[in-house]
Amino acid sequence: MAPEEPAARPTGALHGRMLQVSRLATIGEMAAGVAHELNQPLTAIANYAQACDRLLARPAANLDDIHTALREIAAQAVRAGDILRRLRSLARSQPMRRERADINAVIEEIRDLLTADAHCHQASLKLDLASVLPPVLIDAAQLQHVIVNLVRNGLEAQSQTASEARELFLGTGLSADGQIEIAIRDNGPGLSPQALERLFDPFFSTKPDGTGLGLAISNTVVRAHEGSLSHRPNQPRGACFYIRLPPETGAG
Ligand SMILES: Nc1ncnc2c1ncn2[C@@H]1O[C@H](COP(=O)(O)OP(=O)(O)OP(=O)(O)O)[C@@H](O)[C@H]1O
Ligand SMILES: [Mg+2]
Repeated sequence: MAPEEPAARPTGALHGRMLQVSRLATIGEMAAGVAHELNQPLTAIANYAQACDRLLARPAANLDDIHTALREIAAQAVRAGDILRRLRSLARSQPMRRERADINAVIEEIRDLLTADAHCHQASLKLDLASVLPPVLIDAAQLQHVIVNLVRNGLEAQSQTASEARELFLGTGLSADGQIEIAIRDNGPGLSPQALERLFDPFFSTKPDGTGLGLAISNTVVRAHEGSLSHRPNQPRGACFYIRLPPETGAG
């Protein structure tokens, strides 16, 4: 075991640059999709703006139609902004800052946020954190972002579940091979065969307002931590997403 004071890793700077390159490569891979995705709201905005122009040119302009078109323009602009905001968070030039952390404490920090999210979806959040876990070497903010993404997906998946059965389980534990596991389980319908095939593809979404970037970004972040993000069916129903992270041994 290394001394308490985490020594600067000899490969730290190089490692950080590699992670940044890998994140940017992912964005590069996404570029064609991004162009396509942004083109849709922009085309819609242009069409609605032209429609407003035509409606206003009429002698007795129908204000209801104009309002509808303007609301649609605003909604499409929000959608485009959402796509850009999420990409920006992925492209953040600020290097990943990994520190030794207790994953349970990292989850406790966002417990209120997750509870509020569950409440908004008329669901209850059940936390089941293992009592003692080895530390992990993580960028806590990035891991929290991933957990929020997975919890939101689990909550959104339960829109058709009877409200008394809407539950979101968030648990931590140790896997058989000594990895730290964070599992997020829901009582939704589980993954469709189509979603199973394209789960981590950027822009794959079955939701009317989804960007389809949540899982793609989460997967990139977890892999940059030498971890894995996987899925298994939940019992008796629903989906279970689990993150596995190597324990921090201090061996550097
Ligand atoms: N817990 C789940 N249960 C069922 N299907 C899921 C679950 N999580 C993800 N999916 C499926 O995977 C798709 C991709 O998820 P992802 O988080 O990448 O994007 P999104 O949730 O659609 O959009 P965004 O994350 O931008 O809101 C979802 O649209 C949904 O079809
Ligand atoms: Mg999502």
